[in-house]
Amino acid sequence: MRVYLETFGCQMNELDSELVRSNLLSLGYSFVDRPDDASVILFNTCSVREQAEQKAWSRIGIVGQRKKAGEKLILGVLGCMAERDGLDMLRRHPQVDILCGPGELDRLPHLLGNMRSITDDRPARADRVALAGNSNRRTATLEAAQDGLEALDLSRSFDPAHSLAGKASAYVRITRGCNKFCTYCVVPHTRGAEVHRPPDHIVDECKRLADQGVIEVTLLGQTVNHYRYTHGRALTIEGLELPQVGPGLSAFRTPLGGASAGSGAAGDRTTTFADLLFRIHEEVPALQRIRFVTSYPRDFSDEALKVMAQSPRICPYLHAPAQSGSDRILKLMNRGYTVTQYLEFVDRAFKIVPDLSLAGDFIVGFPTETDADFEATCDLVRRVPFKNNFIFKYSPRPGTVAYDRIPDDVPDEVKRWRNNRLLAIQSERSAEVHASWVGRTLPVFFQDTRSIRRAPIAAGAALVGATIEGLAPATQPAPEVNGIGSWQAIGRTAGDLIVAVPAATVADADALVGSIRLVRITESGDLLLKGQFA
Ligand code: SAH
Ligand code: SF4
Ligand code: F3S
Repeated sequence: MRVYLETFGCQMNELDSELVRSNLLSLGYSFVDRPDDASVILFNTCSVREQAEQKAWSRIGIVGQRKKAGEKLILGVLGCMAERDGLDMLRRHPQVDILCGPGELDRLPHLLGNMRSITDDRPARADRVALAGNSNRRTATLEAAQDGLEALDLSRSFDPAHSLAGKASAYVRITRGCNKFCTYCVVPHTRGAEVHRPPDHIVDECKRLADQGVIEVTLLGQTVNHYRYTHGRALTIEGLELPQVGPGLSAFRTPLGGASAGSGAAGDRTTTFADLLFRIHEEVPALQRIRFVTSYPRDFSDEALKVMAQSPRICPYLHAPAQSGSDRILKLMNRGYTVTQYLEFVDRAFKIVPDLSLAGDFIVGFPTETDADFEATCDLVRRVPFKNNFIFKYSPRPGTVAYDRIPDDVPDEVKRWRNNRLLAIQSERSAEVHASWVGRTLPVFFQDTRSIRRAPIAAGAALVGATIEGLAPATQPAPEVNGIGSWQAIGRTAGDLIVAVPAATVADADALVGSIRLVRITESGDLLLKGQFA
């Protein structure tokens, strides 16, 4: 069976798609690059904003037309939209055959197997749907439920051709789900409770990836610094460690760092986020770059920052979204910190980690956000040296607390204006941050090749996907192209700054992809740095 798989949404989804792909390949499915060539079409979807859902709906509509025209296709909707919409999607969109939530992806081969026997009759709904919300897994313990999913992560076979744009780079999950329940966010509803993977599994996965030529891993978790694994609590009958439900936010009420770090409340041995970073750095020396996203701005221990500072292959990069610069809005968002606490965290991080780069996210137009609240957000962006920020217009998501309790009262044109205004301020900030790197010589990991007839912004967008999304104002001035060859090799510094280096031919630029080279930074703009080989 020929499968077309398209992915929407965040890095978690990209990793899930990679796992689904390698799982189905091992079962004899083949993959094609165009939906027209496929008999199985899978969309791995995102629900975080309405716009993300719209993209998937339009694809689902197109498949519906093909099916109406008589083509025999299997359409599977995977991921967060499947989980959020649930059976409603099947009722309203009968062309959807399979629904599989992000916490049930290990069951996808089974669902596809059920469908493969289709003639004109479809299998019963129960044989086509796997969602956490209606699953009988609820009756089992969450640890056991995660076992199949864990097997999916562990069975991964790294496929460089389908990894991140920059080959040699891979994602490794450390935590699933989220316990934070920010009032605007669907993720805790679609991905479920926070579950931490056993450190041995994570380290083994990193080692296997390194053996296959990966030199950069990005550790994934929605609040990645909340990683904490208490040993000896969740074990199989054979005594092997299992994924473990997160301790909840109360675990972080005791002061982080100092004597308490590294040991659980009851004296159990605990692997903290700092311990995990250290282990990966020490035990997988072939990894040149170790990064992690997304950091929650509270509960980030000095220990973790010190491990970053002292481990040369852990990237001095934090993606720590502030979301708003107004305490009143932060409270309504249930973010759990004030602007002062955010600033304290950032100050601490810049003090402890030399050459740190910081990125983040903001939501504009959250319900009740006034001009003064928005000004406070602008002030925060002016004050903190963010290298870039994703900026999103608030999108009300059914099922979230904000959707139910706080009317979406900021008009769309105001949201749009605030979005553009904040992008413009961020753009100045980015230009300042970038300018401070001119004259330095830095290792750059090359991951893409571009003709500079294309605007550099497009190059950046292709390279880092969403990373640049929030940074690009709609009306970008035409890029300055004089004095540079017609090809560029595009890469990133350890701090995740985008660097373009001229190359004489496309072959020269391509030859650099996957390697780390020293580059002297000669120029800077708001979107990227330019340089020459040192
Ligand atoms: N776990 C990460 C974020 C995951 S979602 C964190 O807490 O930082 C990625 C980003 O999408 C969020 O940081 C937020 O800025 C944005 N986002 C989430 N829900 C949104 C909504 N309903 N409307 C607009 N933006 C949203
Ligand atoms: Fe969503 Fe908040 Fe969890 Fe991030 S921390 S995934 S924004 S609920
Ligand atoms: Fe989207 Fe789900 Fe990721 S909602 S942002 S795909 S966790």
